[in-house]
Parts: sequence; C-alpha cells; structure tokens
Amino acid sequence: MNAVYDKLMKCYESFQKRIRFRPDVALILGSGLGDYAEGIQVEEVLDYHHIEGFPVSTVPGHKGRFVFGYVRDVPVVIMQGRVHYYEGYDISDVVLPVRLMKLMGAETLFLTNAAGGIGEGFQAGDFMLITDQIASFVPSPLRGPNIDELGVRFPDMSEIYDKDLRTVIRGAAADLEIPLQQGVYIQLSGPSYESPQEVQMCKILGADAVGMSTACEAVAANHMGMKICGISCISNLACGIADHPLTHKEVQDTADRVAPLFKQLITESIVRIGKLKYRDSQ
Ligand code: HPA
Repeated sequence: MNAVYDKLMKCYESFQKRIRFRPDVALILGSGLGDYAEGIQVEEVLDYHHIEGFPVSTVPGHKGRFVFGYVRDVPVVIMQGRVHYYEGYDISDVVLPVRLMKLMGAETLFLTNAAGGIGEGFQAGDFMLITDQIASFVPSPLRGPNIDELGVRFPDMSEIYDKDLRTVIRGAAADLEIPLQQGVYIQLSGPSYESPQEVQMCKILGADAVGMSTACEAVAANHMGMKICGISCISNLACGIADHPLTHKEVQDTADRVAPLFKQLITESIVRIGKLKYRDSQ
C-alpha cells in the first residue's frame, strides 16, 4: 500500500467515526478570515487533533479545525487554519486536508489566501480572482507513486480554476459592487518574503500575485477532479513594488481590514455556486 494513501484513509476513518455531515463545497480560509466559520450555521466541528495523523499548523493565530455547516442552504466544510509548506511538512501532508475534504463529499474547492500584489494597478486591499497559477517553485504533491484511487498519473492542468465558477464569482462581486481584479497566482515556498528581484522574476513569468499557499492545494484537488475557484486578498504590494520593507503585521492588518468585504463576497459566491449545482442537476 501507498503510505500517503494509507494516512489519508486513516484520517478519513477518523472523520467517518465522528461526523455525519456531507459537504458540497470545501472552503479554505486565508489570513483575516478565520472567524468566517463562526458566522455560518454550524452543524458539527472536528478538531484536527482528533484526526489520527492529521498535520496541525504551527502558525500563531491559525485555528485547527474543520467546521461543517450551511452557508444559506449550501452544505460546506470550512478549514479553519491550513498548514503551509514552509512549516516543514512534506508537501503530501500540506495537501492531505484538501484530499480529505474531497473524500468527505466536497466536489467544489474554494481557496482563499493573502498575497503580495504584482499586477499592474493592484493596490493593498484589492481582491484578485485567480485565473491560473504557477506551482513550479514548490514540489508537486503528486510526486511519488501515483495514487490511482485519487486520479491519473499525468493529470491535465489546462483549466485548474473552473470557468463557470469564475463567472459566478465575477457576477457576485459585480452585484455586491466589490471591485475584483483577476490574474495569475504564483506560490513560492516562503517563509521569507521575496526579494525585489524575485518579485521581478515572478512578474516576468506572468504572475499577478505571490503567496506561500494555494497552488499546491489546487494541483492536488485538480488531480482528484474537484472544481476549483480561488480569491486572493492583496494584503500588500510585493517587495520592490512597495517602497517599504514588508512585515507580517502589514499583511495581517490589511487582511483584517478588508475581511468584512471578503466574507460578503465569499458568502454570495457560495450561495450562487450552490444554485449552479442545482441548475446542473435539473
Ligand atoms: N509574498 C508572499 N506571500 C505573501 C505576501 C507577499 O508579499 N503577502 C502575503 N502573503
């Protein structure tokens, strides 16, 4: 048996023993959004500590639990606290939660994060709908023997971020009158922020936002056939574009400041994603 798959199945058994809930949408909360999960109609909660072998985040301020419940009438599982590659986990552990949420029943993955802005005209506090990504600077979570139970050896990545979901989110943002940039997200390993020249490199490669999460999770989710969407909160202008040194506090302060708007956008988007599914099944 494959050790990565074994571990995933152990985690799945822990879930099955404790939780009855079946989510449709999996939501991963980035910086500033931690308390979003408390604002929904909570049905059940599963602490990461109660899942055998589950990676638990070391980042201060990151909670560690799955929250199950409803956003309006859409059944969701929310990850309150994710683990990052820079914390020292194997990349297979970093994406284990995403894989687990697919096994729980979630067919759609909604990714959020805080990121440094690179795109022309971006400002701190903007939101960016992710259209595509560059994951080439972190190891592939699919490295190693392929887990055939999850997906194929050589998965297509031509539309990681689902077109229909992007249309839905753009519509939600427009109706809420929340300006929404769009662009390419690049994941670097962190934990240091980039040097100005690294940011230039990202720009040359076509990236509009840079961060330390998300892309590897999207690769694993795409491998499993999930429909994926993602929004970055541009918490700061990336190093060298901003004229001052970057701190974690700046990232957090901006993410906190725009969190109320971000939450509105997430809620409206999820409600509409729920309707999309209903339409598809008619
Ligand atoms: N770089 C990398 N990760 C980040 C940044 C950044 O500028 N801002 C928030 N997360």
